[in-house]
Amino acid sequence: MKRILPLSFFILLFSNSLLIAQKSIEQRVDSLIAIMTIDEKVGQLVQFNNGPIDRTQLIREGKAGSLLNVLGTTDTRKFQRIAVEESRLKIPLIFGFDVIHGYRTTFPIPLATACTWDPGLIEKAERVAATEATAAGLNWTFAPMVDIARDPRWGRIAEGAGEDPYLGSIIAAARVRGFQGTDLASPTSLLACVKHFAAYGGAEGGRDYNTVDISERTLREVYLPPFRAAVKAGAGSLMCSFNEIDGTPSSGNRKLLTDILRGEWGFDGFVVSDWGSIGEMIQHGVVADQKQAAILSLHAGVDMDMESNCYAYDLAAAVKERRLPEAELNEAVQRVLREKFRIGLFDNPYKNCDAEREQRDILTPAHRQLARTVADQSIVLLKNQGDLLPLKNNIRSIAVIGPLADDQNDPLGPWSGHGRGEDVVTVLQGIKAKLSSQTKVRFVRGCGINDSSTDGFKEATKTARESDVVIAVVGEAAGMSGEAASRSFLGLPGVQEQLVQALEATGKPVVIVLMNGRPLAIPWIAEHVPAIVETWFLGVEAGNAIADVLFGDYNPSGKITATFPRTTGQVPCYYNHKHTGRPADDTVKWTSRYIDIPSIPLYPFGYGLSYTTFSYNGLALSSGKLHSNDSIVVTAVVKNTGNRAGEEIAQLYIHDEVASVTRPVKELKGFEKVAVVPGESKTIRFVLKADQLRFYDLSMNWTVEAGKFKVFVGPNSTEGLEAEFEYVNQ
Ligand code: BGC
Repeated sequence: MKRILPLSFFILLFSNSLLIAQKSIEQRVDSLIAIMTIDEKVGQLVQFNNGPIDRTQLIREGKAGSLLNVLGTTDTRKFQRIAVEESRLKIPLIFGFDVIHGYRTTFPIPLATACTWDPGLIEKAERVAATEATAAGLNWTFAPMVDIARDPRWGRIAEGAGEDPYLGSIIAAARVRGFQGTDLASPTSLLACVKHFAAYGGAEGGRDYNTVDISERTLREVYLPPFRAAVKAGAGSLMCSFNEIDGTPSSGNRKLLTDILRGEWGFDGFVVSDWGSIGEMIQHGVVADQKQAAILSLHAGVDMDMESNCYAYDLAAAVKERRLPEAELNEAVQRVLREKFRIGLFDNPYKNCDAEREQRDILTPAHRQLARTVADQSIVLLKNQGDLLPLKNNIRSIAVIGPLADDQNDPLGPWSGHGRGEDVVTVLQGIKAKLSSQTKVRFVRGCGINDSSTDGFKEATKTARESDVVIAVVGEAAGMSGEAASRSFLGLPGVQEQLVQALEATGKPVVIVLMNGRPLAIPWIAEHVPAIVETWFLGVEAGNAIADVLFGDYNPSGKITATFPRTTGQVPCYYNHKHTGRPADDTVKWTSRYIDIPSIPLYPFGYGLSYTTFSYNGLALSSGKLHSNDSIVVTAVVKNTGNRAGEEIAQLYIHDEVASVTRPVKELKGFEKVAVVPGESKTIRFVLKADQLRFYDLSMNWTVEAGKFKVFVGPNSTEGLEAEFEYVNQ
């Protein structure tokens, strides 16, 4: 007789086998630690850069656990062979690299991909990045960077998802899933490293590496959520940050790295320092020498030292002198080894050293195709007066002007992995590929990105005058954002704005294509130029994607995830600020504002246009009351009121009207991207859970307080429909 086993039986069987596998990892880790010398233990906590210094002897002696910046299977195999064949304990190395937005197939920078508001697409992009990186010998990426950035002067805003903790958390989790896949031991899974823990983006003045001084409430409500989401998604490692918070550098911050990360969140992966950050605690002034730095860091919870040499040279002595309990050293080693087991390095240390796969899996047509799709969707249309765009491809003549128009390197953006300029399609090439020989396309550079010379303007304006339309490709160089690339001035560098002014003065219609790694303050351009397309740095398919949008083969759908200020002096300028006792009112002097600019930003968070238009109607709540542990359903109707099919990113925000502590004017709590054809209406539906209303109250309890809430549904953080409901605490 056939017996049907209940589903619960299989679930039990599955979870038991997971437990057994997990247990056997713990046992294998423990038995290894039992036979390791103190020096070998410390060795596992040391990461060296693949620089001019030869590390092979140290690897042979078991004094290195990881290398960074070794690229290609020939080299990773060479080093791995020494570790697993010539060292006493044969512990494999783990190879790390910054795969921030693609390995060789460079995708748009993370700030750009965030503008897709499409976690599924972002996950797919990271899957490709992981496939390529693991084909090139790597096991580990120093990504995702999940730092919230409210200050566009900070160059590293380019590497993250922007200013919002809710969107940032969803994207952080998607990126972890994309890198790691469903099975860490698979040969295409890349161990993620969530960084930089924590509040690195809160640097005073937006100056990189600078001091951070924020309240615990802001830390927990704004900066920590994306880390928590990434940990929840299974991230196996995490990197601490360079900055201090309230007097404690992150590399020595036990509250962050042990109490919160491990105690509160249950993280059981390992923590790596940032480059040299353990040793930098000497400059911070909290330790006197390398040995003290090593002790403070290990005790705080930093398991691996990236390149400061404090662990390599001083940790073993500190343990031998009993200045640090060996048990703490063991714990750190346990965490590093556990992850090496989990990713399958002990079972196959050469799992990512397959030269054939390296030939086959990198920069494939399918990968490029996905990069183009992601780039299409990352573009944000900021202005399109008189429907200047899209251009018709039977247009007679186009002047393509600007320092970035035929640039093959800058579209790669900062942290471009193993990306190469030769793989990049420039804007000029992308435009030409869309047009027949009937259209005359002429290119003039006009000026350099950061030049002071206007010598090229004459030819540029002459060409503009002789053309039907001008496409001006202006912005920043790739190196002007990313690490150590903070700017004190957020306008276009050099004489580029003057070039735009000269082009506009010709009377020809001008389309601005922006390439940049941060929101820019461009009020003159926003006022005078009819069309502005924000393209960030889009990677290898930049030119094709930009041309897709310029000629309407893709109807732009991206929305910005970081506010564009009017001027640098308006920074910090983010949507989820507090009301203050005197909310800004530009008609009243004695309110919280500047006297020389309007209070609203140039472009608000969540903003972006389409070649069609959408209307929002019929906001409805399933109930006017929301009870604890319950949810309400919020619906609204989005209609395509234009004449092209398009996608709209509808956003839901809330505002807690009265609470024991002040609350942001708006907080994003939901979004949905819908495809709508002309004349069609679609009902969008958000489930708002009571849990999503939580915040840290006056006594730092994570709670919801009874009372009224506003709910907004609309196209961005400043427009839309509004309703109200009451939260009832029962
Ligand atoms: C950066 C990290 C990066 C590391 C390794 C550091 O300078 O802050 O984000 O992962 O270098 O390249």
